Amino acid sequence: MGQANKKLFIKTWGCQMNVYDSRRMADVLRPLGYAEVDGPEDADMIIMNTCHIREKATDKVFSEIGRLKEHKKAKEANGGKMLMAVAGCVAQAEGELILQRAPDIDMVFGPQTYHQLPEMVLKATGMMGRPRIVNTDFPPESKFDLLPEENASQGMSAYLSIQEGCDKFCTFCVVPYTRGAEFSRPLRAIIDEAKQLAQNGAKEITLLGQNVNAYHGMGHNGSQADLTDVIDAVALIPEIERIRYSTSHPRDMDERLIDAHGNIEKLMPFLHLPVQSGSDKILKTMNRKHGRDLFFDIIEKLRVKRPDIVFSSDFIVGFPGETDQDHADTMDLIRRTKFASAYSFKYSARPGTPAANMQGLVREDVKNERLQELQALINEQQYEFNKSCMDRVMPVLFDRIGYKDGQILGRSPFFQSVSVTAPQRLLGQIIDVKINRASPNALSGEVVLVEDIYEAAE
Ligand code: 5AD
Ligand code: SF4
Repeated sequence: MGQANKKLFIKTWGCQMNVYDSRRMADVLRPLGYAEVDGPEDADMIIMNTCHIREKATDKVFSEIGRLKEHKKAKEANGGKMLMAVAGCVAQAEGELILQRAPDIDMVFGPQTYHQLPEMVLKATGMMGRPRIVNTDFPPESKFDLLPEENASQGMSAYLSIQEGCDKFCTFCVVPYTRGAEFSRPLRAIIDEAKQLAQNGAKEITLLGQNVNAYHGMGHNGSQADLTDVIDAVALIPEIERIRYSTSHPRDMDERLIDAHGNIEKLMPFLHLPVQSGSDKILKTMNRKHGRDLFFDIIEKLRVKRPDIVFSSDFIVGFPGETDQDHADTMDLIRRTKFASAYSFKYSARPGTPAANMQGLVREDVKNERLQELQALINEQQYEFNKSCMDRVMPVLFDRIGYKDGQILGRSPFFQSVSVTAPQRLLGQIIDVKINRASPNALSGEVVLVEDIYEAAE
């Protein structure tokens, strides 16, 4: 098919799943001659891969369309053409409405249709006028079966989507509506992709899913596989030295998975486990299907299996009906757990979700106060954890160039960002670093001198 002579710019918002999807969209468009570029100028196609999880998502997309359409106009003034597309969860949620409000948009398509992208592009660039496309289907076939093999190198730290969608229906969340029902890829397909990533230089793989520990795909010989089976299988690939998974739900942290944290050395001692609230009453109205004690129980068990494990989480403040006492319960849960980091958000009503119709709205100023209080505590805990790393030697996977001259950056096993002054040829390697500086958000240190690291290049 055509050679790479068309420019594709993809702008991505939101979660790692979207980042992964954007890569796969680039993969599927490559045979049509589209090559990815870093900016919208002079692009032949722009895809906005959007996120709908929190407030103002749709507004943000429309203001971005406003900015990007200037590039489309400039291109058309020179006699060129630019396709503009909205993909992702805002596309799924708003569909047709986007075409109505934004005349410059040519295509709107949801997350389950990316394998149909070549067909949609051919239609949209067809001779017959300027057909505009809306595709928010949940097709019966899985996009994973039809997307081309992972063929773009993701580098040393790669993401692999193993599960998508969610059947949990937390009352605040749009994911079950925008991403659809839970779907797990077969184990075989995951292993093949992991091997491909390893061949392309990956040393670390993060297994992705909206609800990744609910994974239940087809295993070998028709059996059913769970997340622990996936981790076991990926751990067998020699080049893969580190495994992570995200995002998990406390309800799906079963005993085998907890044991895996003790048994599988490659599984990193950092777990993102969203709990959302520390109040049993709020957890119930959120439909999280567990109480705070289950969370404490899991944390304790994991610490027994893997004493150095640290945790991060997601919190929502100001959910409808949240009282001062409920908030105090959340603060107490955080104090008792001691997190290495966490994300926190003010509740925002998402249209179509059950919580959007709930009574007991929390005032905006109260939400702000609670958020500030919670974030101050988390920041304090994060800084404490970073400080506790001082003088420790830890393996760091160097994966990017630093901001300062001569600096390279990497990740500790605990997902902290670590900077060192060292030659760029160390990128892609896992090397011991002695930590000598801890700031609230990052660490820095010195490469522990192994003579041949330096001698190799002399
Ligand atoms: N309001 C605020 N935060 C939300 N999240 C999801 N939906 C909402 C909402 N309606 C947060 C949750 C989730 C994270 C990805 O986004 O904390 O874990
Ligand atoms: Fe949303 Fe809850 Fe599913 Fe997470 S588990 S994606 S918060 S519905």
